[in-house]
Amino acid sequence: MSTHQQGDAFENLLREDRRFPPSAEFAAAAVAQPALYEEAREQGAEFWAGQARKLLTWDTDFTQTLDWSDAPFAKWFVGGTVNAAYNALDRHVEAGRGDRVAIHFEGEPGDTRTITYAELTEEVKRAANAFESLGVQKGDRVAVYLPMIPEAVVTMLACARIGAVHSVVFGGFSADALRSRIDDAEARLVVTADGTYRRGEPRAPQPAGAGALARAGHTVTNVVVVRRNEQPVEWTEGRDVWWHDVVDGASAEHTAVPHDAEHPLFILYTSGTTGKPKGILHTTGGYLTQTAFTHLNTFDLRPETDVFWCTADIGWVTGHSYVAYAPLVNGATQLIYEGTPDTPHQGRWWELVQKYKVSILYTAPTAIRTFMKWGREIPQQYDLSSIRVLGSVGEPINPEAWMWYREVIGGGNVPIVDTWWQTETGAHMIAPMPGVTATKPGSAQVAVPGIAIDVVDELGKPVPDGSGGYLVIREPWPSMLRGIWGDPQRFKDTYWSRFDGMYFAGDGAKKDDDGDLWLLGRVDDVMNISGHRLSTTEIESALVSHPSVAEAAVVGASDETTGEAVVAFVILRGSAKDDDDIVTTLRNHVGKEIGPIAKPRNILVVPELPKTRSGKIMRRLLKDVAEGREVGDATTLSDPTIMQQIAVSLRK
Ligand code: WT7
Repeated sequence: MSTHQQGDAFENLLREDRRFPPSAEFAAAAVAQPALYEEAREQGAEFWAGQARKLLTWDTDFTQTLDWSDAPFAKWFVGGTVNAAYNALDRHVEAGRGDRVAIHFEGEPGDTRTITYAELTEEVKRAANAFESLGVQKGDRVAVYLPMIPEAVVTMLACARIGAVHSVVFGGFSADALRSRIDDAEARLVVTADGTYRRGEPRAPQPAGAGALARAGHTVTNVVVVRRNEQPVEWTEGRDVWWHDVVDGASAEHTAVPHDAEHPLFILYTSGTTGKPKGILHTTGGYLTQTAFTHLNTFDLRPETDVFWCTADIGWVTGHSYVAYAPLVNGATQLIYEGTPDTPHQGRWWELVQKYKVSILYTAPTAIRTFMKWGREIPQQYDLSSIRVLGSVGEPINPEAWMWYREVIGGGNVPIVDTWWQTETGAHMIAPMPGVTATKPGSAQVAVPGIAIDVVDELGKPVPDGSGGYLVIREPWPSMLRGIWGDPQRFKDTYWSRFDGMYFAGDGAKKDDDGDLWLLGRVDDVMNISGHRLSTTEIESALVSHPSVAEAAVVGASDETTGEAVVAFVILRGSAKDDDDIVTTLRNHVGKEIGPIAKPRNILVVPELPKTRSGKIMRRLLKDVAEGREVGDATTLSDPTIMQQIAVSLRK
């Protein structure tokens, strides 16, 4: 977003004077009460020590809450030992809650499974034994390339149980993307499936997975394949084994050994400002504490009665924190759905809410805007009265979508919690507390209790209410990333060098006159497409890897449904022809290199790209073109006539 546009958007936002306080009834019974804020303010880091002891079962209690002596490398709950899988599973069974449903699974074709805590615990124990029998040891990395099926959660928890570090790769990423992630983490085991379903069609991940594996480094010793829809599988004898062969027959006895609070739990790759995705590293004790805390308080969770549904795929951090870990650590019942919202019809989600009596729904603004487009008549055909809290995540939610969500899905009387956070933060950082905060359409509003958020200017000085700047985090927090896999310097440079002693999130933000926070999108070269994070440079690299492309520049242009859309400007090599074919070819090429989500919405062939005298592409000007605006100040271009040349070529 260019600065003037942010300004305009903010002027409109500032006029927002609607307030939706919780009902007296909701407020009185809410899990999070106003005292939680006071407690957090008074106690500082010790607040988190209390939460860690309250929410988790530790094998050894910790002796120090936070060691920040080697900042920005934090150690939380020093000396403590804990097992994530034990906390998510065994302890519920031991406490007599084994019969509670952990997962209601609904496959896209309509097949269902109901898995209790006792059953899930057994399945994870079997998988842990199976992985160990394949030689997986504590600290080894396991790549997970699976659709949204229960085995995905089982695999993650089995890894956590034995101390192996999972690296989940979104099933929609390409073979090349999978391969580079396997190589970077030097994964030893890969868990994948023989397919999934998408819009009624059987769909790989496996063929893509097999291709990637064939070319991956030699660290992979075994591949475990889950049978899901019996697509043809490229099989490597001696390396590949079926899940049902190794897991089903394994023993259901397995003792969870305690791991250090700082033992690595997982790596999750995310896009940064350079071409190479970074492996964000999370560890055990702090991550579990803050994900469980926020899941309980932000969503007002009652584990005995609620049915929680987070619609995110496990390939993203939302699917890690609020599908695989927090709901289970909190002993909740959740729904996992494999497929798309419009299969076999556009009412599928609402049919599921009605069928499973979903009471807490957590999804992304992109989905909400899509449902708005399909029309309110569709959700209105279903009984959505079970819903009592609605959550939003992944991108700013515009006030229109917020109001529609509240009225059409929430029946006009349930709290909406807009949660700001990142792969790097591990858990919610900014969010209303549903029984305390009077919510405002479009604003994520206030820091989570125990979290120190600020908005600062160029020099790192806090801005006053009514102004904008950069979003920062002032104090370490339990679920913060512990680094970038294999690249400690990049960790410091990316997050800790912009402002002294503060974490720089990469987002622009404003404080309104009440001091409430409004998120204004990324200020770096990271795009947000349907709540998915993609880097402009990563897509540019993919484009120039094609023999027809000489140069490429990519921008995120605002899009009514997806928030942002990828728009690419390319200069072709001398021999390549500018026609429809080349656009299709290049779109598919990006799909193959990164994955279908990265395919540009538009590819525009241009004679030149706007660059500064130092050779930096001025994406701001291209964004003006992509969004159909008058082009802004172009005086710093090395050749000021270039924007005109581009305009002429696009008119052709
Ligand atoms: C980026 C992080 C958080 C899990 C999903 C995305 C944007 C996220 C919000 C929100 C405005 C948001 C930010 C952030 N973002 N939530 N509620 N309001 N923007 O995780 O892929 O790591 O992306 O998503 O720009 O930096 P991610």
